[in-house]
Amino acid sequence: MFPKEANLIYLDNSATTLIKPKEVLRKLNLAVTKYSANPGRSGHKLSIAAALEVEQTRQKLAKMFNLNDENNVIFTANCSSALNLAILGSVKNGGHVVCTENEHNSVLRPLEHLKEQGKIDYTVATQSKSGGICREDIEKCIRKNTYMVVCNHISNVNGDVCDIKEIGKICEEKNLLFLVDGAQSAGHEKIDMKENNISFLTLAPHKGFYSIQGLGVLLTSRPEQLCPIMFGGTGTNSLELTQPDLAPERFEVGTIATPAILALSGGIDFVNENFNLIHDHLDDLTTFLNYELSYLPIKIYTSTENAKGVFAFNIPNMHSNEVASLLNEKYGICVRGGYHCAAKKHEALDLLDQGAVRASISYFTTFSDVQKLIFAVKSILKCKKLI
Ligand code: ALA
Repeated sequence: MFPKEANLIYLDNSATTLIKPKEVLRKLNLAVTKYSANPGRSGHKLSIAAALEVEQTRQKLAKMFNLNDENNVIFTANCSSALNLAILGSVKNGGHVVCTENEHNSVLRPLEHLKEQGKIDYTVATQSKSGGICREDIEKCIRKNTYMVVCNHISNVNGDVCDIKEIGKICEEKNLLFLVDGAQSAGHEKIDMKENNISFLTLAPHKGFYSIQGLGVLLTSRPEQLCPIMFGGTGTNSLELTQPDLAPERFEVGTIATPAILALSGGIDFVNENFNLIHDHLDDLTTFLNYELSYLPIKIYTSTENAKGVFAFNIPNMHSNEVASLLNEKYGICVRGGYHCAAKKHEALDLLDQGAVRASISYFTTFSDVQKLIFAVKSILKCKKLI
């Protein structure tokens, strides 16, 4: 049932996009009709045809993010798996990592795991200014034994933006690995791996590429710094008991998610074709929402300059999950309350008691959808006699 048929307003695109463009649907259909053989496993025509489509997707991604070698585009189960591969696979015993308060648990938990094992220590950089992490925030956390900086590019909680350009410069100067979590930005924002000195970039294709769930991507300019964290069949060197030496096979074990990869290929075409329109649409709708709600007695956690499609707020004396349930049940509006798998960000925003209501926008969100959210918030405030 699609939102319009069900009379629903879908504003949970940071969790996953609901509406898929025709480019994605077309490729997905081809994947399960024409290209459903196993790529890279057999030498027959159907397997090769599927493999060529997969390789083309790697090429498109390498081009989009300015990575020299498409073999260093690694497909994983989801963005969390891609982050785990980058963090666990590049660990340096006795070393130190700097991450930020904006990180998702898929960064914080592997780091904490490595710390508990006594392998590393890590520091969580805090934001000195509203709006996002800047160079100085990271610089002051770097120690002699720091080997990696991890930055969430756009916060999935409130849309704060990290200055990856300046932070990439420090990483270059100090010869540090630089991991950028692009789950919430890639597709909407231009990311140049070379220009920003990014060693590892992770993607969530079901978000910024309007593709389907079940796939993550790790792009790396430093494959020599990465060890596999999973072992198994790759379709190559089958008589060897050790993993192959070269990417992508070294890091991709088991049958890959061909339907999700081909759907991503369609998503890349859609994004390339409409990049400016998508970017401007998110900007317009987030700005409109922020402006309209700023007159009301609610708390807003998204800076006006960060109009990236992620917007967080709270209604006084109501838990965010209570507001999210009310929006769902009474107004048919889908948002996400709670903590968004981002403990440190909620701690930094002093939201450990209340969480936050997050409305997140896609290219397919309309002005009328946003107006309905504004109307619903006003109605709740009226019921609570706050306006
Ligand atoms: N990380 C996703 C979110 O922010 C699922 O909702």
